[in-house]
Formats: sequence, structure tokens, C-alpha cells
Amino acid sequence: MKIFYGLMATVVVGSLLGCGPSGVPQSAGEPHRPQIHFSPAEKWMNDPNGMVYFNNQYHLFYQYYPDSTVWGPMHWAHATSKDLVHWDHQPVALYPDSLGWIFSGSAVADVNNTSGFGKDGKTPLVAIFTHHNSPMEKTGSSVFQYQSLAYSLDEGKTWEKYAANPVLKNPGIRDFRDPKVMWYEAGKKWIMTLATMDRITFYSSPDLKNWTKESEFGKEVGAHGGVWECPDLFSMEHDGKQVWVLIVSINPGGPNGGSATQYFTGDFDGTTFTPHNTDIKWIDYGPDNYAGITWSNTGDRKVFIGWMNNWQYANVVPTEKWRGAATLPRELRMEKVGEQYYVASNLVKELDVLNEKKTSLENIDATDLDIDDKFGKLAGAAKLDMEASSASSFTITLSNSKGEKLLIGYDQSANKYFIDRTLSGKVSFEKGFAARHTAPRISKEAGMNMSLVIDDASVELLADDGLTVMTAVFFPNERYTEMQINSPDKTIFNKLAFTPLKSIH
Ligand code: FRU
Repeated sequence: MKIFYGLMATVVVGSLLGCGPSGVPQSAGEPHRPQIHFSPAEKWMNDPNGMVYFNNQYHLFYQYYPDSTVWGPMHWAHATSKDLVHWDHQPVALYPDSLGWIFSGSAVADVNNTSGFGKDGKTPLVAIFTHHNSPMEKTGSSVFQYQSLAYSLDEGKTWEKYAANPVLKNPGIRDFRDPKVMWYEAGKKWIMTLATMDRITFYSSPDLKNWTKESEFGKEVGAHGGVWECPDLFSMEHDGKQVWVLIVSINPGGPNGGSATQYFTGDFDGTTFTPHNTDIKWIDYGPDNYAGITWSNTGDRKVFIGWMNNWQYANVVPTEKWRGAATLPRELRMEKVGEQYYVASNLVKELDVLNEKKTSLENIDATDLDIDDKFGKLAGAAKLDMEASSASSFTITLSNSKGEKLLIGYDQSANKYFIDRTLSGKVSFEKGFAARHTAPRISKEAGMNMSLVIDDASVELLADDGLTVMTAVFFPNERYTEMQINSPDKTIFNKLAFTPLKSIH
């Protein structure tokens, strides 16, 4: 059973109006507060939801519980951004109602007004989400999750729930949720990709209100260590060829334990998704990138953001005023390695606005190097970029005066990247947290490159132009200020660059 059902007894049902994130100032003085990542000003956050780009604004909605810092009756909170980097908290967009709590889902700009929700030429933004009916669940029913709509005619400021909700009833499947909707131009119809327990079910609709089942995918394919959640479907181009990507989060069953996000590449014809193969691939091998999906209405550009957390310990991570944050936004790219397609992730270029003065060194011997001798101590968020002409083992250690440390690096004998947070600081809140996590090196190139983005409570490792990605959170008792590199293989970095990053607050 999912972790959140177990928690229901401990949380207070209902929400306090006016307690949303709107207008609550961010304070940079709170321990572990992300400095360059989106986090709610206060209270609980999980999945990003309803991301849509409209009239030069990025909308980010997210699973939110305004009454507590643990998971509870879900709302959609809302934030907006012009640049994907700096976010303005907006009033809570969707509150629970008589049909249920507001679980994850997506939003589209219905530019052709297929839904008829548009008025006076105004394009409706339409949110498609799961209603989770908790009283019904408690009766032992299996039809307590169903899909509903809400729309906005003022660019997401206020939302009206559709009077005829739900638009897709539950056919008898306990886990029936997280609709991601896209416009399928070739068939001039909407496609809903829905997580239905141990598989994906595709539905289509001319108007977002009437849905017809098209097909199922995945019962026998992919990772099945846990329930399937939060899917996404889109196409990307590679060498003039259209490649479809199906993203599926699973909990538990990730490559490093707990929740994680797998993906499939293949073809989609408006009815059926046919995978290229049955290999299991992960968008991010680290422990802390879950339930991520892409923005809609961004044309060919695919921008992904995930929840930087893991259900294994999300409810007990040691932050006080708020719990949960988002990953940095990443631009996805289709890559081919040998005969295999892979989805690579790179930081969106907009993040460059945070760059302070970069210091770059060439031909650096990494046998035993105090990086802070060269670059100064870590004093806030920062990026380390390195390039080596051969892939040999090295470890980067971030540490503080209490002897707490985080190890990040590459192990050539295993051909794996790793992040080891065993001694990273506060780890006792959950027994599996103190661990060394690994990810395969996918690239076959001789040379390697790696970018590390270090924030107060997280690191994102993007290796080989984003072919292997790992995200991990950590909670030192004091910020890490020292940086060291060690390499038993005497790695020479052709380039080693350090860029302090401005806070977004
Ligand atoms: C994923 C998830 C979704 C669900 C939401 C509830 O983390 O479990 O499947 O809609 O969170 O908050």
C-alpha cells in the first residue's frame, strides 16, 4: 500500500483558507533551505503538477498540503516564473471538494477551444487532475480515484471546476491516476496518458470532456517494483526521426531504492505505444528525482522538472517550516548510443543568470587537490564543471568543520558514477538514507565531462552531457565549505571550472 494511505490517520483533514504559500516571504536564514531550487515557503510539497507555458509565463502547480509538513489532503499550489529560475508564489489554485482531494495531473492551453470553456476569445487553461475520494477509499471501494477538469480564463489566477466532473470514471482499478494530456496533432485529438496500477492506459478525446480508451502498455514491460504513477508522453526528434518517449514513475522499485522515474522510447500512432525494446532506463539514477513530467505548450522544447525527494523518507526529512523541493528544470534531449536511444538531461540555459564569476583552470592534476585552495571555499550554491580526456576514477569530497561529508565521483572499475551520503550529516531520520548510490556510465566515449550543481541541501550530477544523471538530497549540520578531489588513477582534468551561483531569493 502506498505510504500516503498509512499517514491519513495522523493528519487533520481540511484546510485553512489563507494559509497557502502566497505572500509568505522566503527566508534565507532557514537551515537546508534550497537557494537555487523551487521550494514552498512553508508546509508540505510533493509532485510538480499542471506545468504549462502560456503568454510568456511558466506555470508550476504542485501537490501541496497547507496545514502540515507531512503529506495530507492534497491541493494544487501554484507558482509562476518568466525564466524557470525565479518563482513567484501564487494563491492555492485547487482546493479539495466533495469529489475528493486534488491529486496529480497536468494542464493544457486549449488554443482551439475544443472544450468550449473559452469565452470572448480567451484561451482557456484546462487542468486535468485526479480526484481522490478518501471517504470512499475507507469503505473499501476500489473506484475512489477518477479524472476531473478545472479551467482558468485569467491565465491561471483563478480556477473553476467543471460542473460535470468527473470526466473519466474509475472502471474498478484502485490506482487510477495522474493524467498527462497532450494534443496529438496527427489525429487532431487529445491523448491522456494515465497510470493504471501496473500499466499505462491511453485515452483520447476531441474536447477534454469525453474520453475513449485507446490501449494499454507495460504490464509485462519495464520496472515493476512498485505501483506506476505520474506518466508523460511526448515526441522528440533525433536525426530527422520522430522518437516517442513515455515516462513512468514507480514507487518503490527505483534503481537505488524507493521511488524513481523510468522511461521507454518507441513509436506512438495515436492509439498504441510500441517500445523500441524492453530495456529498463532511468531519467535520473539518484534517489531524489520523482514524479517529474514536462511542461506543455513549449513547442519542440521539452523542459522537465521533478520532485526532489523520495517516498522512502519524504515525510521525515529534517526540515522544519517546509518539506520538499523541486529539481532544477532540465531540458531533455534525444541521444543515440550504439543502436539505443536515450533521453539525456541538461540544465536549462536560463539558469546561467545565476552565474557569478567563473574561475576556470586547465590541465589540473586531480591526484590530491584541495579545490578550495584554487577557487575559495564554498559559500552558497555553486557549479563545478570538469572535463577529462579519459574516464578514470576520482572522488570529489564536500565537507564541513564537523567532519560531515558528501562523496561524489566516478569508479572506473565498476564504470559507475556515485554519490555517497553515508557520512553527510543528519541521516538517522530513516534507516536507508545513509547510503552510497550508483549509476551506470552510459556513454562509450573515451573522454568524460561532469557538471555538479551544489545547493544547501542537494547535489545534481550530470555526466557525459546529461546521459547519466543523479540527484541526491543531504542535510549537514553545518554547510559544506571545503572541496577536495582525490584520484587514485591520477586523473588529469583538461578543464576544471567553478561558478558560484546567486541565490534566487
Ligand atoms: C506520486 C503520487 C501520485 C499522486 C500524488 C498524491 O508521488 O503518489 O501518484 O497523485 O502523489 O499526492
